[in-house]
Amino acid sequence: MPDPAPTYWDYLKLDQLLSLQGGLEEHDGQVEPDELHFIIVHQAFELWFKLVLRELRLARDYLAAPRVAEEAIPHVVHHLGRVNEIFRLLVDQFAIMETLTPQDFLAFRDKLVPASGFQSFQMREIELVLGLEDAQRVVEGGLDPMRTLERMARQSPGGAGAWAKIDAARRETTLLDGLRRWLHRTPIQGSSPGDPGDEDAVDAFLADYLARLEGTGEVAATKLKEIPGTDAAETDRRIAAGQSQARTFLLALDRPEAERARVKRTRAGLVFVESYRRLPLLAWPRLLIDTVVELEEQLVLWRTRHARMVERVIGRRVGTGGSSGVDYLDQTARYRIFGELWTVRTLLLPRDDLPALQRPELYGFAV
Ligand code: HEM
Repeated sequence: MPDPAPTYWDYLKLDQLLSLQGGLEEHDGQVEPDELHFIIVHQAFELWFKLVLRELRLARDYLAAPRVAEEAIPHVVHHLGRVNEIFRLLVDQFAIMETLTPQDFLAFRDKLVPASGFQSFQMREIELVLGLEDAQRVVEGGLDPMRTLERMARQSPGGAGAWAKIDAARRETTLLDGLRRWLHRTPIQGSSPGDPGDEDAVDAFLADYLARLEGTGEVAATKLKEIPGTDAAETDRRIAAGQSQARTFLLALDRPEAERARVKRTRAGLVFVESYRRLPLLAWPRLLIDTVVELEEQLVLWRTRHARMVERVIGRRVGTGGSSGVDYLDQTARYRIFGELWTVRTLLLPRDDLPALQRPELYGFAV
């Protein structure tokens, strides 16, 4: 007997899927329509988070390989592009949640305490796989969010499994690590890591770049000081601070000595790709960077949109998870996991001011 042809309901396990919306009562019939709405919206988010995690881990695995084949980059861009589309959808999905009026929610909110999206272990895994560090997290009232989660997990029946997932994700290679390793190998002015004189080539590129940046800073300062009423000393101070930050960033002076050479080359690779992004060889690398920037932008938009939705539904009261609520959520919107990709935007040079490209033939065409 051949296997029976699959049916839609069997393949999607619809019976099981549709039997999971009974809430604490474990019974659909006892759940009011507003609460059913609340449960389904959350479950829909969590299903998308599951796919996001799969896509992120796949992209991370490609990037973290010891050698990333040229043709792997389009795959990474493709999978991260899917994550971006999912987040775009999720940001819009909050509008559905907002059809729950403040009073509709108050009717069942108290029975949820201390359950909260704060315990979405999949969101924590997403943050961890991307590369958010514990030190970046918002600490409220001296309470470290990861420790709070761990404590909550210990006290809840399903907690062990949830915490095990978070804990395992903490030990994974992050997408940020993979991206940095890949950027580190960028050919800079035709020189790659391991080539004779590579460090000198990178240093020469950075010295030239910084000198040119100083030149554009002076031009900007002169123009700004021509604006009537401008405080010249303050303008000079701001421009000098920008120059100093650029130097610290590009020469990795913010890092311990032992890491400096590696970080410097990684950041130089990033500046190089962003600066000479029109070169054919850099077409995919720049697309990858753009896609990661968009990913972080989407995540920030997600956090901001969630916070506005929360403000609309519960105002500024404390969350069911015990945080300050909207204030806490607004602070999380300041997280930047891929900070270097954002910082580099502050110190890019106009195309005409860039150091002359060396060995252009290596990058796809002579210029
Ligand atoms: C009426 C609807 C909602 C309200 C009032 C609400 C409220 C809150 C509040 C106040 C927090 C802060 C933690 C706390 O003290 O509880 C929070 C966190 C969170 N919520 Fe919601 N939420 C709602 C819907 C959603 C939905 C649909 C999702 C989708 C999965 C979600 C996901 C999250 C996540 C992931 C966090 C953790 C944020 C972080 O710590 O970075 N929430 N929510």
